[in-house]
Amino acid sequence: MAVDLLLGLQWGDEGKGKIVDVFTSKYDIIARFQGGPNAGHTLVFNGRKHVLHTIPSGIFHDNTINLVGNGVVIDPVIFKKELDKLDEQNVDYKKSLYISRKAHIILPTHRLLDAASEASKGKAKIGSTLKGIGPTYMDKTGRNGIRVGDIELSNWKKKYRALADKHEAMIDFYDVDIQYDLEDLETDFFEGINTLKTLKFIDSEEYIHQAQTAGQSILAEGAQGSLLDIDFGTYPFVTSSNTTAAGACTGLGVAPSKIGDVFGIFKAYTTRVGSGPFPTELFDEAGETMGRVGHEFGATTGRPRRCGWLDLVALRYACQVNGVTQLIMMKGDVLSGFDTLKVCTAYNYKGETINHLPYNIEAENVSPIYTDIKGWSEDLTAMTEASQLPKEFNDYVEFLENELSIPITIVSVGPDRKQTIVRKEL
Ligand code: IMP
Repeated sequence: MAVDLLLGLQWGDEGKGKIVDVFTSKYDIIARFQGGPNAGHTLVFNGRKHVLHTIPSGIFHDNTINLVGNGVVIDPVIFKKELDKLDEQNVDYKKSLYISRKAHIILPTHRLLDAASEASKGKAKIGSTLKGIGPTYMDKTGRNGIRVGDIELSNWKKKYRALADKHEAMIDFYDVDIQYDLEDLETDFFEGINTLKTLKFIDSEEYIHQAQTAGQSILAEGAQGSLLDIDFGTYPFVTSSNTTAAGACTGLGVAPSKIGDVFGIFKAYTTRVGSGPFPTELFDEAGETMGRVGHEFGATTGRPRRCGWLDLVALRYACQVNGVTQLIMMKGDVLSGFDTLKVCTAYNYKGETINHLPYNIEAENVSPIYTDIKGWSEDLTAMTEASQLPKEFNDYVEFLENELSIPITIVSVGPDRKQTIVRKEL
């Protein structure tokens, strides 16, 4: 069976965790393929909020296998904390959580290097979550990394020490003031490693291949968003992995010909956390309202998210790069009460009107060109059927569908599993 993908189309925080959780009953396997604990996937059900960082969002369903793929980077300390939370809730993950032997491990010194690198950049900092993501992927591509499979080998601690020593020398090289007690950090790290070792390690590409051959259904769960992709995002203000569809092929070992539906998730407006260009960013009351009503604070760092109008130029680009087949619009409820909504349909790029995302979208080159759309006043959060949605809301959604030429099949009107409305069955 083909592998379906679920990806964020903006700068992350689109609500992927919620939709994966809603979709999980239709799939045998949920697989994360990139990123690491920089992600914060929020799920709300039975009146309780759950935040997952590395563990796939299908973990709360019995009978679903949750796979952490080879493209993911794992911090054993954060992973252990996630497992502890699951233990508190009596979630039986031992039989349903598998880890790829080829996934790379985030060392304590990777986190320190992240901090040193950011501190040395001053105003030009990326706004990283400081979880060690960049340095770990650097060691992966530099062929120095430590993988989950290594910790099954007898000599891995020697390899660990050599790498950690090298990292300490690199931290000194940055010449910034980073205070740390490595022994302390290592106590937690090795405790995390011991916990990790109680889980099932697998050769995940073989597992996926066998599962596909046996007709099992698989959903690949993306992290971050397309505009944070290392190749196609707003470089250098991006994360260090391929967050787009191609990342699912390399991050799980799935052939491009074996990809099925590509579900693209976007918010009815735009948010961004961290530094980098954001053409439709608002600095007025409208942006403040989106942030307040939408509770726009990072699930991993708690930082306030920057807010702005929906950017269709960027969204169209993300749909193209990913080959999106169905769209899911999140947080429509947050826009209730605006008399007029603005949607960016083109850019003014150095005096010329363009419809595509150019190489550089910094404010000195790009300004958004907006189309005004009438807003709606109704509270959507209690609605459960498409027939209840107000006319102006439907007009907004149809406008987007026409502009993007892709159906918006689901709209989400609140954080709870139940606040999910199917508009179209395909
Ligand atoms: P890093 O991946 O932690 O190095 O962060 C690089 C950039 O990606 C920063 O601007 C982060 O704020 C952003 N970022 C990383 N992960 C997420 C996420 O899950 N949601 C939103 N932004 C993210």
